Amino acid sequence: MQKILVTGGAGFIGSHLCKSLLDDGYKVVCLDNLITGSKKNIEDLLDNPNFEFVNADVCNLQAVDRSQLAVSAIFHLASPASPIDYQNFSEETLLTNSVGTLNILNLAKEIKAKVLIASTSEIYGDPLEHPQKEIYWGNANSFGPRSCYDESKRFAEAATYVFLNKYNIDARIIRIFNTYGPNMQKDDGRVVSNFIWWSIHNTPILIDGDGSQTRSFCYVSDLVDGIKKAMFSEKTKGEIFNLGNPNEFRIKELAEMVIKLTNSKSKIILSETFRPDDPMQRCPDITKANKILDWKPKIELKEGLQKTIKYYKSF
Ligand SMILES: NC(=O)c1ccc[n+]([C@@H]2O[C@H](COP(=O)([O-])OP(=O)(O)OC[C@H]3O[C@@H](n4cnc5c(N)ncnc54)[C@H](O)[C@@H]3O)[C@@H](O)[C@H]2O)c1
Repeated sequence: MQKILVTGGAGFIGSHLCKSLLDDGYKVVCLDNLITGSKKNIEDLLDNPNFEFVNADVCNLQAVDRSQLAVSAIFHLASPASPIDYQNFSEETLLTNSVGTLNILNLAKEIKAKVLIASTSEIYGDPLEHPQKEIYWGNANSFGPRSCYDESKRFAEAATYVFLNKYNIDARIIRIFNTYGPNMQKDDGRVVSNFIWWSIHNTPILIDGDGSQTRSFCYVSDLVDGIKKAMFSEKTKGEIFNLGNPNEFRIKELAEMVIKLTNSKSKIILSETFRPDDPMQRCPDITKANKILDWKPKIELKEGLQKTIKYYKSF
């Protein structure tokens, strides 16, 4: 039975990935320092004999018993990801995506494991091209409130390029676009979690700007399917894949949909000012993932929101 390492496995996306890999018959080592994740996300997995939780920091892999890291593939997802988290943990974000990623690339080189590096649509910054293709270089600000995340993820991509070309490791990168679903923290400042939480409590829904900015939302099970295909499909070594849902929605439209689905009395309040460096439009071009991985999202926004609302109501 193949053993797989998932860094950041106790986080939102990582916990779903761990579960899905176990369901596929792999042994899974989940390495997480719980800075933004939670053991609650993996509590159903802890009794599974094929699952191992290692409480450790990817920046300090020397502290981990090497036998626990003897795996055939590494999904590197560790990193604070929501705007609130990466601004609260700005130095940790810089370190995790730089030192932590170098440690993971070195580990992959040493043990000859396949590795997948989780990057982000944020590397495109406030994009000047729509939708964004993988070949677009982006329009990111290197000196601003989001830079600790955007630039350290860009560093992680550059580091992966070096290890691919200098050491010929079996690596690939995914750029994840907005993803949502159960196990998202309720107060992490992401629009879907905020809107659902406010709506089920009938409190006002606050929107930055006039709500005309657009986003695309991918349900987590679709994303996990794409992540596994990016790792295990043929001809993915050295490739970058956008993974996200290309259906675009205005933020105000999302708020209206959440209010309707929760039968909420919440009112929408527009702030009329936008957050610094917050992109007006973000939408993946997933042609490449569709062609090479035979992947595209299946879950419509309404269905995904219903599943997520059910999770939030269970608190
Ligand atoms: N959720 C999204 O919409 C989205 C979008 C783009 C990219 N991503 C990327 O996907 C990955 C997972 O994001 P998420 O939404 O699940 O976030 P999350 O915060 O829920 O999960 C990240 C996990 O990494 C762990 N972690 C952070 N630093 C660590 C370190 N130094 N050592 C060990 N563990 C560490 C956290 O404790 C947490 O469990 C991240 O790399 C993120 O940048 C997510």
